[in-house]
Formats: sequence, C-alpha cells, structure tokens
Amino acid sequence: MRAGILFFALALAASSCGAGTGPSALGPTQQATAPDPGGVIRDFDLTARPATIELRPGLAVNAWTYNGTVPGPLIRARVGDLVRVHLNNQLPEGTTIHWHGLAVPNGEDGVAGVTQDAVPPGRSVTYAFVPQVAGTYWYHSHQRGAKQVDRGLYGSLVIDPATEPHAVPDVDQTLVYDEWPWGLEKTNPPPPSDPIAMTTYVTYSVNGKTGGAIEPVKVSPGQLVRLRLVNVGYVTHYVYLDGQSVTLTAFDGHSVSGGPPTDAALPLGAGERIDLQFVAPRAPLWLRLLDAAPPAADVRVPIVPSGTNPVPPPANHRNIAVLDLLSYSARAVDRVWPVGTVPNRTYTLTITKGGLPMPDMPEMAGMTYQINGKSFPDTDTLVVTQGDYVEINFVNLSDMEHAMHLHGHVFQVLSRNGEAVSGIIDKDTVVVPPQTSISIGFHADNPGWWMIHCHELYHAEGGLMTLVRYEGVTRLATLGGQWSSTPD
Ligand code: C2O
Ligand code: CU
Repeated sequence: MRAGILFFALALAASSCGAGTGPSALGPTQQATAPDPGGVIRDFDLTARPATIELRPGLAVNAWTYNGTVPGPLIRARVGDLVRVHLNNQLPEGTTIHWHGLAVPNGEDGVAGVTQDAVPPGRSVTYAFVPQVAGTYWYHSHQRGAKQVDRGLYGSLVIDPATEPHAVPDVDQTLVYDEWPWGLEKTNPPPPSDPIAMTTYVTYSVNGKTGGAIEPVKVSPGQLVRLRLVNVGYVTHYVYLDGQSVTLTAFDGHSVSGGPPTDAALPLGAGERIDLQFVAPRAPLWLRLLDAAPPAADVRVPIVPSGTNPVPPPANHRNIAVLDLLSYSARAVDRVWPVGTVPNRTYTLTITKGGLPMPDMPEMAGMTYQINGKSFPDTDTLVVTQGDYVEINFVNLSDMEHAMHLHGHVFQVLSRNGEAVSGIIDKDTVVVPPQTSISIGFHADNPGWWMIHCHELYHAEGGLMTLVRYEGVTRLATLGGQWSSTPD
C-alpha cells in the first residue's frame, strides 16, 4: 500500500516539473476521490490533437479533436460513479475541458481563467467528479472556446440513472449537430465567392458526418427509440421527424413527464439538448432540419427499420410548425423552483449589441455585445449567497437571439415578457429571442465562480459573458497570465 502511494507521489512530481517548461499551471482542483456507494470508477483518456476529419467522401477538414474523432468519444456513466477524465494536450496551444450542464464542484468546471489555468501544450491533467443527475450532457474546450469548439473540440456525455427505470428504450442514440466554417477544408476548398461566404458556415454535420455519409439509426418495427439531440454548434437548428410525431422526455438533460406527442419542428439552440422518443415505424423515416440555410438540406438522419431501404424524402418540407418549447405542457420531474418561491435576489441582464469599431479592425463594428452596458471582462458579477433563490431576467434589446447558459446550476424558466410560461422545464441554456425578455430561477447550492454567457461562442468572445459569484468564495484562477487563460 505504502509503496503504491509513494510511487504515485513520485509520478506526480515528475509530471509537474518534467519537460522544463516552467512552473506548473493550476489544473482542476476539488477532484472527487471515490464513487458513491454502489457506483464504480470509470476512466477515460482524451488526447486533444489536430486531425483530418472526413465529413463525407471528398470533403475533409483540418479539425481539432479528442482522440482523432469528431465528436470525441462518448463518455457514459451512471449517477454515483466516479468519472475520471485524463486530458493530454497535444494541441499547439493551451486548452481545458468543461462539462456542459453538469453541476460539478467549481474546481472541476474547466473554465480557463476562472476555475483553472489553460493546460499548456504537452501537459496532462485529470478531472474527477461524481455525476448526480441522469441525462444528456456534453463536453467541450473552454479555453479560446469560440475557435476551439468551432474546430471540433467537443463530445457527448450521457449519465444513466443509478438503477434502471421501468421503460428502458430499445434504441438509445446520441445525435450531435454542428456547423463547419469555410476555410478548414483540406481538399478542394471552395473559393470565397464573396466576403460574406467566409464568415458563414458552409457545411452542417451530425455526429461528424454530412450528406450520404450520415449513419442511419437502425431499428426494428415496434421498438421504443430514444434520440438524444445535442447542438454543439452556434446556429439554432429545427429538427423534425418527417411523418411521425415524437414525445419529448428531457430538456438539457432534465427529465419531464406528461408532454404530449408533437409533429412540430423542435428548436435546438446553441448548447441545448432535447431527448425525444417514438415507436419505431415499419417503413423508413427521416429526421430532418427545417432550417432555411442551404447546408441544412444535407443533414438528414435515416431511421431504418430492419429489412428496408430509405427512399430520399421530397426536397421541400411539408407545412411544419415550430414548437414553442416554453409552452410545451410538460412537467420537470425534479423542479428546481418550488411553487410559490419568492426570489431573495433578482438581477436584470440587459443585452445589447454594438460599440465602436476598433481602429485597426473596422470590420468588428457591431461584433461586440454588452450586458448592462459592459462587455466581458468588464461586466458586473452577480453576487449570491449560498441558499439563495435567484431570479435572472434576461432582456434582449439586440436584433439577434442569444442562447444564455449558466454553469454549475440547473434553472427553471419562469416567465417570458413578464408572463409565466406554461411548461415547467428545467434547463441550463435558454434561447432569448430578439426584443424579448425571459426570466429564470435557480437555487444557489453550488459555491464558486460560475460563468453565464451566450453559447453562440463568438458572441461570448464579443463580450456577452459574466460571472455569478458566491459571497465569501475565492476565485480559483485569473485571466491571461503565463498560460494566456482566455475562456472565450
Ligand atoms: Cu458549454 Cu460556458 O459552456
Ligand atoms: Cu448570442
């Protein structure tokens, strides 16, 4: 025993002062050391490195990946397990990993410049936490996040209940939606016909594939199918199963019950997740995107019953409505805002767009965003005390939607434009449309310094970020410094 511990200590010392690259950066802190009773230890190795990814035959991109794949490997565990993720950074710059939607201890949250330093190239760190809420989550870089996530540094994270619930689906599959910017193509890059083309997304993908390369979901007629939709991109997608209705069973990982079947398109904003279920049909179906942008036409997932072959769907969409998520009449299984709760802290975050162009970058005009008149890192932090019930009212005065995400907590959507919403749903990300206000409520039960930002990560980079901090809690890391820690 003793020898084992000594060996471990020596190995740690060797790795933190090896390679002669100067003092060690602050990595994750507050690691869990044991699973809950009944749980097991699950280890995952993630090497962040550049790789060529083939989105379809003839279209390869220069991506940044975990273990050479996009999405990175699925991390799957049960509530109460000890999840240990060993990150090795083989990128040419610093990186981190953030566990989107999971309420981990602050020191494990993976935000460069807030909870840890960026992990320098060539170094390794270990994140260790015990997930407590089953659901669909995802992980991604939170160092220079806008660019690193855009290049492919993401993967899905699924937490199963500690014990099986009654109705386990026969098919359970994660579908990760993303968009690829012009300019990453390895072969035959299309010429930038106009400057706008260079700033828009030319290819959309699901599970790292597009067009005919998308893997079908294989089913047998009559099976219960669960699909976990994850949007890791920066564009809202509108997903629908063409020809059959579905039941929504979770929003951002948090289970709901009692929701009616719907055949509307499901809006899936940046960072959001929706779990849906349906009974497998006898004939093939397509899961399509209603989005108007042309690359969306290439993102169709075939749902293929055994012994059948899909026939391409009509090019045009039937007349499909878009679901209003906030009035989907479902009830969160564990509501975070008990009936009748009166907030003891209320903050209003007014979001605007604009600001002066920088002298040497006039094209940046309008690319800055403010919260109450200030851009990150100059934004005001929201101070809370442990135990508070906190209401945040987002008032979007800009001309575009913003997918506002809170770290470390689950919130309930309370109202829209001052009127209580009819769905009782728990989330970690909520899309606030232009000229609209949405208020959310959360219980301050996880001390630390937590980011709150738009998940269109270029908006975050443009300043649409701030922090919730608990009174009396020390911030773990600072921006910049030797490791250039930059969360956005
Ligand atoms: Cu998914 Cu602050 O991020
Ligand atoms: Cu935004």
